[in-house]
Formats: sequence, structure tokens, C-alpha cells
Amino acid sequence: MDMNFALFLLFSLSAATVSMLCFMHRKKSENKSKKKLPPGKLGFFWIGETLEFYKAQRRNRIFEEFVQPRIAKHGKIFKTRLMGSPTVVVNGAEANRFFLSNEFKLVVSSWPSASVQLMGKDSIMEKQGDQHRCLRGVIATSLGCAGLEAMVPKICSSVELHLQNHWHGQDKVSLYGMAKILTFTIVFECLLGIDVGEGMLATFERVLEGVFAPPFEFPGSKFSRAKKARREIEMMLVDVVRRKRKEMEGGPEGREEEGKLLSRLVAGLIRGEISEEEVVDNVVLLVFAAHDTTSFAIAMTFRMLAHHPSCYSLLLQEHVDIISNKRAGENLTLEDTKKLRYTWQVVRESMRLFPPIFGSFRKATVDIEYQGFTIPRGWKVLWTVYGTHYNEEYFREPLSFDPSRFEECVQPYVFLPFGGGPRVCAGYQLAKLNILIFVHFVVTRYNWSLLYPQEPVTMDPLPFPSHGMPIKISPKVL
Ligand code: HEM
Repeated sequence: MDMNFALFLLFSLSAATVSMLCFMHRKKSENKSKKKLPPGKLGFFWIGETLEFYKAQRRNRIFEEFVQPRIAKHGKIFKTRLMGSPTVVVNGAEANRFFLSNEFKLVVSSWPSASVQLMGKDSIMEKQGDQHRCLRGVIATSLGCAGLEAMVPKICSSVELHLQNHWHGQDKVSLYGMAKILTFTIVFECLLGIDVGEGMLATFERVLEGVFAPPFEFPGSKFSRAKKARREIEMMLVDVVRRKRKEMEGGPEGREEEGKLLSRLVAGLIRGEISEEEVVDNVVLLVFAAHDTTSFAIAMTFRMLAHHPSCYSLLLQEHVDIISNKRAGENLTLEDTKKLRYTWQVVRESMRLFPPIFGSFRKATVDIEYQGFTIPRGWKVLWTVYGTHYNEEYFREPLSFDPSRFEECVQPYVFLPFGGGPRVCAGYQLAKLNILIFVHFVVTRYNWSLLYPQEPVTMDPLPFPSHGMPIKISPKVL
């Protein structure tokens, strides 16, 4: 080939490539400029509106001080920047349905780095697709009808023992603290089938304290302490898992002792479907998921009962009716708990006003078109329960306490203390039993009253009564 012709060809090809690239770039910019981001303020680099969010969160006033003023200014969908991430906050039943049901398709759940490091990358909250389905399946089997039936007498025994050890002979207890001790025992002993050893609760609580802390490891930091506690727990759990494995491999084939979750997880380990890390990480995650949430729901139920004596009378009657049909010492059954309809309405109404989890973050895995706006890939989406729980479109006089509103069915994606879609709370049934049975034993055995009726609720980052909700108690004879 002639040298000049070769040069001409090379030049033409380069020019064509450059023009093509320019054209593509222009097209891309045109597309980008067509994207309409939701209204709102991203604020300065990294920090954005994080401080305003934290300030409102600490006072348990995320809705009143952060969400509501922005809804008033921008509408139900607005953008902000939280902890370094551009974030779109969405509100309302339709938005909840759209984002929660599109988990894995348009969004994935998105936890802070500290949570992932402390819960472990193999916990269910980090899993997607088939791996997520497999783990949920294992948890769901333990909380199926037969599992729950078997669990009721165990939960009753745990509550009775707890009252005997921690309430008997006292005239004052911290209700929130007690609920934490009890919930911890129920998750370990009744759900997982692991005996609670001395110091375990304190070590777990150190892990939980770091779950939302800045992920910086330096001596004395919350996160360092939590990591150290996590290593201690890991060693303890690995030992428990290996002993269980040995015991199961030595026993009759496929034995999954009385449906306890640890045995089911270890059975999966033996079959090669689950790794040892997955077993450990999911035990830690289950404790985290159950602990503060259930305890806060219990505390707020008692607070609302104390503030609404007529509701308390109705609730108490329901429990007296159950006892009056039993012989002395006869245990509650799953059937009895199903009769506690009014009690469950009270608990639900308390969770509507005081949700243990105010919402959670998702991350867009593609550009999402929603209600005329684009949510760019990689941005976070925050759905909140407040957009429906506190909205009169969905609940008449939303700020008043009225358990009777739950006599009627609530529309889907409106009442969401347990979330929704594929990541709806996997422990909902256990939480329900834990709360109902605890309420049953306390109201039938004790007279009680709040020591600080107006005790503030703080959030750090989950909500809790700031003095641990001390109550005065005295034994009751029914
Ligand atoms: C009143 C008590 C509870 C409340 C309010 C609650 C609330 C929630 C919420 C809102 C979610 C969804 C989070 C999201 O969308 O990102 C969730 C997920 C979850 N919860 Fe609960 N929870 C409670 C008790 C429990 C208990 C007792 C357990 C088990 C022992 C449990 C296990 C889980 C698990 C494993 C997930 C993750 C599910 C998944 O990713 O597929 N929760 N919970």
C-alpha cells in the first residue's frame, strides 16, 4: 500500500472515531440534561444535610424537624445529601410499595460500612437473589406454624424465669432494660437453641453500640470496641457451631433438633449449602435485628397503656378472660395468643406512633424513573414510616392514640413497622409472640406505674426511652 494512502486511511479512521466519540458524548450529555432530579438541597460536599438529620434524629423528631419541613417545601419526594451520599427521601404508600417491592430489581438494601463490618458480610442483610431466598427459607421454617407452636411454652418459661430472677422482690425495675435481657434470652434459647452464658449480653451490646458509629478504628473509639467485641463473639459462636456440627454428624442422619434455628443452619452447613461464616454472621444479625426493636416496642406499649387507662382496662380484661379458662399453672398456647386481638391492636398502635425502625436506606442499581423524576444509579433512597404513619390521608387524627383503628384492615404499604417487600421482617412472628406473652405475664402478675410518665425518647441511632423507663411494681393477686 502507498504510504500516503495508508496515512490518509489512518487519519480518516481517527477522525471518524473522534467524531463518533464526540457524537456519543453529546448524546449522553443531552440525555443527562433531560433527567429531572427531585427538588431539594444536596448541600456542601460530603456533609450535605447530615448535621440537620442527626440533630433531628437524636431528639426522635426526624419527621417533625427534618422530613415534614422538606415535604412542605419540595413535596413528598425530595433530594438531600446524608453521610456523603446523595439521597432521595420518599414518602407515602405508593412510594413505599414501589421501592420496597422493587428490592433486587431497581434497588438493593444499603447499610453503613460499620453495620456490614460488625454484622458480617455474610449476614442475610447483605445477601441478594438465591442466597437471600435460601437464608430466609431457613429462618422461615423455624418460625412456621409448627415452630411457633413449639416456641410458645418455651417463651412462657423464659418469661416466668425472667420475672422470678429479675422482678421478684423488687419494687422498681427498668422496663426497657428488662425487655432487653428477656428478648436476648428468647432469641438465643427459644429461637436459636443456644444457652446464654455469663457476659454474653454485655459483649453483644458492645457490638450493637458500634453498628451505626463512624467506622474508624482507633484506641477507645466506639467502633474499635465493637470490633473487639465482635471478635470475642465470633470465637464463642465458632466453638458453638463446631460442637453442634460434631453432635449432629454423630447423631441420627439429618437430625434437626426440634426445629431450633441453629440446628437448621448447621444442617445446611453439613449439606454444604451454607458456610461457617454465614452461620456466625446470621446469628449476630438476628440478635441485632431483634434486640432494640422488640424492647422498644414493649416499652412504648406500656407507656401508652399508662397514658390511656381505658385502653388498659380493655386489654387487662382480655388477659383475665384467658386465665379464667385455664387450670392453675396451665401454660398459654399459640391459640391463646391468637385471642389477644385487642392487645395486638394496642401494640400496633404504639408502633405506629413510636416505630422502632423509622425506615431504611436502599441504593439505586440503575437510573430509576419515578413520578417524573430521575433517581440516578448509585444514589440512596430513604423510605420512612412517617410518610404514612403520621399522615391523615391514611390515619384519621394521626397523632392520637386509638388502637381501635386496627379493627379494620389497613391498606398495604401504609403500616410498616416491620418493613415490606422481599426484605419484610423475617422475625415478625417471634416479635409478636415475645411482646404478647411478656405483656400477659406482667399485667396479670403485677400492678405497675411509670416513674417518669413524660420520659423523653432519644435516638442513637435507634429510639429508646432516655432513662430506661423505670416502673414501680407490686405483686398482684387476680
Ligand atoms: C418489634 C420488633 C421488630 C421490628 C419493629 C422489626 C422491624 C424490621 C424492619 C423494618 C425490617 C426491614 C428492614 C429493611 O427494609 O431494610 C426488618 C428486617 C429483618 N428483621 Fe425485624 N423487626 C423486629 C423484630 C425482629 C426479630 C425478633 C427478628 C428475629 C429474631 C427479626 C429479624 C429480622 C431479619 C432477619 C430481617 C432482615 C430480612 C431480610 O433482609 O430479608 N426482626 N425488621
